[in-house]
Formats: sequence, C-alpha cells, structure tokens
Amino acid sequence: MKLLLTNIKELLQVRENAPQKLSGEAMKELPTLKNAWVFLNNGVIEDYGTMDQMGPHQGFKTIDCSGKIVLPAWCDSHSHLVYAGNREQEFVDRIKGLSYQEIAEKGGGIVNSAKKLQETSEEELYQQSAARLEEVMSLGTGALEIKSGYGLTTEAETKMLRVAKKLAEEYPVTIKTTFLGAHAIPTEYKGDKDGYLDLICNEMLPKVANENLAEYVDIFCEEGYFSVADMERILIEGKKYNLIPKVHVNQFNSIGGIASAVKHNALSVDHLEVMTNQDIEDLKNCDTMPVALPSCSYFLSIPYAPGRKMIDAGLPLALATDYNPGSTPSGNMNFVVATACIKMRLTPEEAINAATINGAYAMGLSNTHGSITKGKAANLIITKQVPSYGYLPYAFGSNLIDTVIINGEEV
Ligand code: NIG
Ligand code: FE
Repeated sequence: MKLLLTNIKELLQVRENAPQKLSGEAMKELPTLKNAWVFLNNGVIEDYGTMDQMGPHQGFKTIDCSGKIVLPAWCDSHSHLVYAGNREQEFVDRIKGLSYQEIAEKGGGIVNSAKKLQETSEEELYQQSAARLEEVMSLGTGALEIKSGYGLTTEAETKMLRVAKKLAEEYPVTIKTTFLGAHAIPTEYKGDKDGYLDLICNEMLPKVANENLAEYVDIFCEEGYFSVADMERILIEGKKYNLIPKVHVNQFNSIGGIASAVKHNALSVDHLEVMTNQDIEDLKNCDTMPVALPSCSYFLSIPYAPGRKMIDAGLPLALATDYNPGSTPSGNMNFVVATACIKMRLTPEEAINAATINGAYAMGLSNTHGSITKGKAANLIITKQVPSYGYLPYAFGSNLIDTVIINGEEV
C-alpha cells in the first residue's frame, strides 16, 4: 500500500540519522520541515521532503494535509492495558478520603483486579483489552508495551500475556510484552512473600520464557510490595531467561531501587514521582531510560516526577501512560504530553521527544519507531488544522487528531 501525504504545514521529528535516545539539552531540539510531504510504502516511511522538491512520488493515493501537522505516532512504553473490569468504587473511596495505600491494605488495589481477572475468561479478557487498544490507536498510539501483573497465579499471568500476544497479531500496532508477576503479594500468600517469589522463580518465569510470552521483566519495588533485595532476586532470575528489566520504582518512596536497577542494566526505570538527588545521580551516564507517568500523578493526586530537574541534570526522559484500572484509567498519550508540559514544566519540544524517540528507546524500538526517518515504520499522526505544534499540549482538553496511520494504513 502506497500513500502520499502532501502540503503538510509542519512535519515533526524529522531525523535523517535518528539517535537512539535524547538526553538533557538535546531534548530541547525538535527538527521539523515546513510545507512538506511524506511518502509511505509497504508499511514504512520511504521518503520525505519539502513541497518545492516533490520528486517522482505522484499518482498514488494522496492525503492533503494543508494547515495540519504530521508527527510520528506516540510510543507508549508503559501500560497495563490488558485487565478485567474496573475499580470505579476505589476511585469514589479515594474521593471520600482513603489513600491508595489504605485501599490496598483493605484488600482493594492490585489484588482486587487480580481476583476479577482470574474469574474472566481469556476470550472476554481479549475483547475488553481489544476495545481499549482500538481507543488508544485512535488517539495516536502506534507502539505499546503491555505488562502482566493482574493475574498473580501462573495460569492468570500467562493468560494475560497470551492476550497481549494475540492483540499484537490482530492489530497493526507494535506491542512489546513484560512479565510483572511481582506486582503484589496475592491474598493466598499473605505473610509469605518469599513463598510467592519462589512460585515466580520456579514456575512462572520458566513457563513465560518457554512459551516466549515476554521480552521484559518487571517488579513493583515499593514499601509494602517488594524490596530492593526481592527485585535483585527477580532480575537475576529473569536474566537466566534473557528477560531485560523494566521496573516500577520510586512511586511513593525512594528505597534504593534505581541504583539497583541501573546495576542490573534495566532498559527503563518507571514512575519516579519521589526522587532524591542521589537517585538522579545514579541515572547519569548509563543506558537506563527514566520514564515518567504524569497521568498517574494526576489521577492519584501524588507528586509528579521531577522531569524538569532531571532533564536539566542532563538525563534523558520518556513519557508513558501507565494505562491501568487502579492508578491511571486512561491510555491517552495526548493528555500525557500536555500534562508533562503543564505540571512537569517540559517544553512542547521536550515532551514530544519524550513521547516518541525516548518512548521507542524504553521498549527497544529505537531502530524502527519514534521519528520520521527513512525505513522506519509508517506510523503517523495527522492533526486537525492547528496554529502550531505547541498548540497540541496547550489545548489540552481538545481532540486535535484528524487521522492516525499505523503501518501505512489509516486506522
Ligand atoms: O503502575 N504501581 C504499581 N502498579 C500500577 C498500578 C496498580 C494498580 O493500582 O492497579 C502502576 O501505577
Ligand atoms: Fe505501571
């Protein structure tokens, strides 16, 4: 399928040689072409340029993008999109004054979602998840990471990952899967965390690896959940199966998870709402991508990751949704980008870089996603007519997307 986009008011994130990731000062630059065209062929970006030099690309299906901006589709490197039901009741409990932690202590939270998921058939779980995936694609997400972690039994954890794998087969969006068995201690193992970790190591990890269900391994490293020592155990065990770490750290407390994750060559450390100066130091000069999840902070009314401070310290930063039933029931990357500007003081350029090139890096897709580069996936967002790209985060409540193209096809 060949598709030509013409008269693009401004084409964003144009990189002849795209970097793997962007850090510090380099995040301020967003290269663009004004009055541009892009030619898509066979699911990839074949060529692009300015309208005064159109080349031979004529006579194909053409979309006139006059007044519109075109940018790479969002790369959402952290989601829990496969889940069952919702946690609306806990939302109301929080409005009435209970904290996220208090709700979890009462048997709500992750174990509540796990109970629902265990009772939901694989087919039903697929249907619920597919509806969410269709929505996020229409909101401009072209690549997505999906975690397990709401199963907490071998059967339910692998069920989640099979559903994520089936979504990857059925939809054009690129999906990466992560095994998050260590998301919470299941009710049956209350008071026996080590017993549950044994189950993860002896039964879940071998099965996930054997059936090729995940590329990454995750753990919720947090007070009341799993310690740094637990994380080390899981990451070392995961490494035996070539699973790369991408971990939940520093959501409510800084307990040393970042230094340990960096030591174990984590691809990303995610959440980071509570960061000490030492945590920022520990992220310097390494290959680990810090990932902020501003919609989670918004929904739970907790601090935002200090994105401004981290970029000013020279670090890279990626942005993702954290789409899940408990802390972030939204998979809208446009809202994430706007909230990063409004609440974390990222500039529009920094936020767009964080949600494209750096998001791709945080799920191992740097070579194929995240920029307008010849040979990369034809994953694009065409906006409605807008005055400038800064208008996208500025008009935070408007849906400014006109068309989404994934793998060269209109969604
Ligand atoms: O990333 N913090 C850990 N896990 C999820 C939320 C879990 C839940 O409340 O269901 C997160 O925010
Ligand atoms: Fe998460």
